[in-house]
Amino acid sequence: MIWVDKFKQHSNLRKNIRKARFHVAEKFLKIAAPHYHNIIRRHANVSTVPRPFTTHLKNLFKDRPLTGVEVGVYRGENAKNILQQLNMEKLYLVDPWACYEGFGVDGAGEYANKNEIEKVYNNVKTAFAGHGNVEIIRDFSQTASARFDENSLDFVYIDGNHRYEHVYRDIKSWHLKVKQGGVVGGHDVLNIIDVITAVSDWCVENKQKFVISPPDWYLTKQE
Ligand SMILES: C[S@@+](CC[C@H](N)C(=O)[O-])C[C@H]1O[C@@H](n2cnc3c(N)ncnc32)[C@H](O)[C@@H]1O
Repeated sequence: MIWVDKFKQHSNLRKNIRKARFHVAEKFLKIAAPHYHNIIRRHANVSTVPRPFTTHLKNLFKDRPLTGVEVGVYRGENAKNILQQLNMEKLYLVDPWACYEGFGVDGAGEYANKNEIEKVYNNVKTAFAGHGNVEIIRDFSQTASARFDENSLDFVYIDGNHRYEHVYRDIKSWHLKVKQGGVVGGHDVLNIIDVITAVSDWCVENKQKFVISPPDWYLTKQE
């Protein structure tokens, strides 16, 4: 009986220690997490890890000077990485920096507030001001694509509006603008169902093989 009581006491003690540890950890994270989150975000501004799409371009084109487009730029994190990794003759950055349908799904949290959007846009303008090979096009993907000639681009990276209709239309319009042997691809292929559905629908309908290399997808333009 004594042993049973001792065991109960012991297991209650262990439960309480576990609870206390959890409580302390919870309190710590509440205070510390926003701080760490900011540090991570600040470092993420100069991402040193290329996306699979960018690595694919690097392997395919080596040091060839390239002309490409990123559709959906947000804070310019991936754009900075593209510039670090590839020999960019010209990089067009297309984004309306305006509130858009479904903005929450892709993490563009500031888009609920017009002032915050302007801040994001101004930071991007400042960040790329010294890059003569970068042109910012503050416009929606569809209207921006009309500015480009067919078969003129080496690549287009699609990471704008992630709704099905938008992704499908973006692939359709931008694919025309890419040269034979060039690459069309994008982001968030496995975490957003609309993206994978639009990519696979368009590729099946147009008999284009595509590769999934999470979180990216890409295809090489063929006849
Ligand atoms: C996920 S963020 C892009 C992140 C960026 N590619 C990166 O990885 O650093 C999505 C961006 O797409 C933009 N966007 C939304 N709808 C768009 C559209 N129709 N055309 C172009 N860009 C759009 C938003 O303004 C937002 O900044």
